[in-house]
Amino acid sequence: MQGSHGALADPAAGAPMVAAAPTACRAGGRCYTAPMTFQASTLTGSKPEQYAQLHDQARGLLAGERDRIANAANLSALVANALPALNWTGFYFYDGRELVVGPFQGLPACVRIPLDKGVCGAAASTRQTQRIADVHAFPGHIACDAASRSELVVPLLRGDELIGVFDLDSPEADRFDEDDQRGLEGIARLFVESLA
Ligand code: SME
Repeated sequence: MQGSHGALADPAAGAPMVAAAPTACRAGGRCYTAPMTFQASTLTGSKPEQYAQLHDQARGLLAGERDRIANAANLSALVANALPALNWTGFYFYDGRELVVGPFQGLPACVRIPLDKGVCGAAASTRQTQRIADVHAFPGHIACDAASRSELVVPLLRGDELIGVFDLDSPEADRFDEDDQRGLEGIARLFVESLA
């Protein structure tokens, strides 16, 4: 995994810069978050070590924010920029009937996915991560981007409640291994925890 330019860590401080994003408050208690500065750095070490670094960056990015659109948008950008060989990275949210596209990085995508359709529907309905080495061999795969060859979809669960799915597509066959699955399930967990 060659992290390219999405890393946010501040090596000098040993902590993600985003965690220290300052806030300024006007009289009356209304606050805004000052713009953040992102620094390019590369994920290093073994794959589990790189995911540990990515998790630290994600924690910093989500710290103090509970809005699901904001957190899904920033996580999509973080992961899409940090990990190689992804052509779609993002979220679908469950509206009580089907999955509806949320924040993502990649080409425009199918807006609604019924739970009995596609890899995303399979992840949502079985509540199990779907790691598909060859999407063309998956019955019912929905090709939003014809370039996609492999896919990893993690269900987002808060207790028994289905919130949606975290979906990653790659133009490479068999792009995702067990380390990726564990690492990206961890990112999905951080997202769900951020909503609490
Ligand atoms: N391929 C997915 C559809 C969503 S896109 O990949 C963004 C599926 O089969 O459910």
